[in-house]
Amino acid sequence: MHAADGYPIYGADDLPGFLTLPDALGSWVATSEGELVGHIALRPSAEPRAIMESAGRFLALPLDALCVVTRLLVAPVARRLGVGVLLLEAAVGRARHLGLVPVLGVDEGSGAVAFYERCGWRRVEPLAVTTPSGQEIVQVVYVAPG
Ligand SMILES: CC(C)(COP(=O)(O)OP(=O)(O)OC[C@H]1O[C@@H](n2cnc3c(N)ncnc32)[C@H](O)[C@@H]1OP(=O)(O)O)[C@@H](O)C(=O)NCCC(=O)NCCS
Repeated sequence: MHAADGYPIYGADDLPGFLTLPDALGSWVATSEGELVGHIALRPSAEPRAIMESAGRFLALPLDALCVVTRLLVAPVARRLGVGVLLLEAAVGRARHLGLVPVLGVDEGSGAVAFYERCGWRRVEPLAVTTPSGQEIVQVVYVAPG
C-alpha cells in the first residue's frame, strides 16, 4: 500500500508501531474469506494537535469533545467494494456512542479525500504539517457529518 498509494506517508517502516495505538478508543479490521483486507482506528487526539484545534474551532467545541478517525487502510484488491464505508461506520458509531464528534486529517491529493466527501464528511481547511521525519506535507481537516 505504501508503494502503491504513498500511504502512510510516514510510519511504514514500523507497521506494528503504526497500527498499535495504546490510546485507541477502538480499532477494527475487515476480513474477506479469512484474509485481512482493511483496518481503522479511533483515537482521543490527533498528531499534530493543529488538526484537532482546527476542527474544534470549526465546530465550536472543546478538544475533549472530539476524537480522531485514523489508520484507515483498505487492501488494493478489496477497494471500491464498500469496505472503507463499513470500517468508517464502525468507528463513527463508536465515537457517537462515546458522545464524541469524529474528525480527521487526510493527505491532500489522496483518493481518500473523495472517499470522505462521498461519505458526507465536511471539509474544514488544509493545514501545513511537519512529519516526525521533518517532511512538509499538507493535510486537509475534515469533520464527520452532523
Ligand atoms: C480511501 C480508502 C480507504 C477507500 O476504501 P474503499 O474500501 O475502496 O472505499 P469504498 O469502496 O467504501 O468507497 C465508497 C465510495 O467512496 C468513493 N471513493 C473511494 N475511493 C475513491 C477513490 N480512490 N477515488 C474517488 N472516489 C473514491 C466512491 O464514491 C466510492 O463509491 P463507489 O465505489 O460506489 O463509487 C482506500 O482507497 C485506501 O485504503 N486508500 C489508501 C489509504 C488511505 O489513503 N487511507 C486514508 C488515510 S486518512
